[in-house]
Amino acid sequence: MNDNIKTKINEYKEAVNKKLDEYLKIQYPEEIWESMRYSVLSGGKRIRPVMALETCNVLSGNYEKALPAACAIEMLHCQSLIHDDLPCMDNDDYRRGKLTNHKVFGESTAVLAGDALLSFAPQMIIQHTKCEDSIKLKILEEFLISAGAEKLIAGQVVDIASEGKQINKETLDFIHANKTGALFKLSIRTGAILGGAGEKTLSALTEFSEKLGLAFQISDDILDETATLDTLGKTPHKDKAAGKVTYLSFYGMDEAKKRLAFLCENACDILKSNNIDSEVLRQIAMSINERVR
Ligand code: IPE
Ligand code: IPE
Ligand code: MG
Ligand code: MG
Ligand code: MG
Repeated sequence: MNDNIKTKINEYKEAVNKKLDEYLKIQYPEEIWESMRYSVLSGGKRIRPVMALETCNVLSGNYEKALPAACAIEMLHCQSLIHDDLPCMDNDDYRRGKLTNHKVFGESTAVLAGDALLSFAPQMIIQHTKCEDSIKLKILEEFLISAGAEKLIAGQVVDIASEGKQINKETLDFIHANKTGALFKLSIRTGAILGGAGEKTLSALTEFSEKLGLAFQISDDILDETATLDTLGKTPHKDKAAGKVTYLSFYGMDEAKKRLAFLCENACDILKSNNIDSEVLRQIAMSINERVR
């Protein structure tokens, strides 16, 4: 990734971090806000909010309009991580290089912190997004659908239910498209809608986000096998131990890497053929492929 793009991405990340800190003010009862802040302000790549901001910026020349929604999506993502790490789910001790939420605050507070983030996030969209009400309603609807039992939760349910079982390609794709793809799609579409995308651009960006979401989860599956706690910030080799069917266990390393590279190239082609001139999105797509090389 070249230095200009890194600087631009850092600018987005700093804007997101500053707003998240501002939104999540400690109040009574302090324990819940501390737990929410612990997970949300604990680092992370911020890839979802960055994509939302860049998409809005490339279409409208203004990213600030998408800042509350981008922060809301990051809060939703953090909620999904807190719950994903619980002993009743993936049972993980580390996240972003630190102890997981339940390890620090206990399971009941971790469950409640996830719940609290899930309802606090759309509140931020309602209270802080400056746009027409009809647009606000549209992005809120997409947010709530993505977070729920039709998307992210559907993916998580089938992921957990499939542990230790043989599943087919369709089920594997369903898991990935929903547990991970849904928030990638939400991020890009939210930025696009707020940026005033026309129908053709919105549908091209939607297709781009679908490729990227799947690519990202393939890279996550590969890194679970090849990375270390130090570089990953979470315990590796968990998927095999839990009997998860991943892109790696299903296709093997070579084929999984091939599919990953193909999806990222495809995603870049979609940008090019639709004249979506975002070097940030293009380089994010390429960096997802490069994560595993
Ligand atoms: C982890 O997402 C969960 C997956 C969908 C694979 P990220 O890899 O984006 O996690 P952070 O936000 O950088 O910690
Ligand atoms: C990520 O799946 C999906 C969600 C958190 C919604 P994983 O379970 O593979 O994510 P990591 O590897 O724990 O980050
Ligand atoms: Mg999981
Ligand atoms: Mg997990
Ligand atoms: Mg994983």
